[in-house]
Amino acid sequence: MRKFSIFTVIFTFVALILGNLVVATESGDACGTDWPFCNGSLIPAFTDYHVVIEYSHRIFTTMLGLVILINAVGAYIKNRQSKAVRRLSILSFGLLILQSVIGGLNVLLGTPPGFSTFDVMFSQLLLLTMVLLSYSLHESESPVEPHHREAVAMSYKAFTLGFVFYIFQTVLGAFFKHSRASNVMLDLPAHEYLIKSESIANVVYSLHWVATVIVFVGALWFLIYSMKFRYHLPLAWLYFIFILLNAAIGIMIVVTKNTVLMSSIHMIVSTMTMVIGGSILGGYWFKLKKRKMNI
Ligand code: HEM
Repeated sequence: MRKFSIFTVIFTFVALILGNLVVATESGDACGTDWPFCNGSLIPAFTDYHVVIEYSHRIFTTMLGLVILINAVGAYIKNRQSKAVRRLSILSFGLLILQSVIGGLNVLLGTPPGFSTFDVMFSQLLLLTMVLLSYSLHESESPVEPHHREAVAMSYKAFTLGFVFYIFQTVLGAFFKHSRASNVMLDLPAHEYLIKSESIANVVYSLHWVATVIVFVGALWFLIYSMKFRYHLPLAWLYFIFILLNAAIGIMIVVTKNTVLMSSIHMIVSTMTMVIGGSILGGYWFKLKKRKMNI
């Protein structure tokens, strides 16, 4: 089950990247609104690349549903003695249902402006849950020396504060994009806007900046503390570098006036950061046994 849980994390990650490709190439409507069919048939005519992308995304996400279901049931049955495994497998199953309903509704409603924010939010939470579930199955305690406990407790606080803002930041970023506030702000034309006012668009943009600063400070604070006890050092560096990368690519989007490529890289990098952050959280919860240490 352990190897399968890692496979599930990778599978979920690829599904999210494919979803990003659908948005980037504007292929969301290529199969029409008759989900689960594609333009009225189970195997559509592959007339253009939009159909290929949207259809592969549909097939892949259907397979993902199966993979997550097997993972959740398998983990639950084989590790039912662990409360964390039980809770996380139920949560992963619940999020899968929610994600399928949101994804299906999005297609049936013809991708209304702003709605894809929910898609991004639940898919990122699903990915995070898969990482945590995998960690809970790999549970093997790492001893922490007593004189390091204070540093561990401080680093945990720094990390969770920054990471909670990080999750908020991804949802805000998705809202910024899918409400088309980013287009209004950059004076770009779009078919449909949810946010039409430039001043509201600027408020969303400013919040995206404020959250960037908080996430950056959290990551730096976490890095400094993890240097003191060394357990999470490579992941702390990776997390910090990826936060910087997110910000740098965000700036590039503005400089290049929102090219599809830059916007996609921004999303891919932030999805990778979610996996790194989930691994750090999993480390605290299941390897350092934070509760046992009273932190
Ligand atoms: C920790 C730092 C950051 C994170 C985690 C982050 C994350 C995100 C995410 C997840 C999206 C939605 C992408 C999508 O749904 O495809 C987004 C959108 C966006 N972000 Fe960021 N962001 C960060 C910092 C920044 C910064 C510093 C800027 C620029 C000054 C920026 C500019 C943008 C823009 C312009 C969009 C909209 C892109 C579009 O309309 O295609 N981001 N961000």
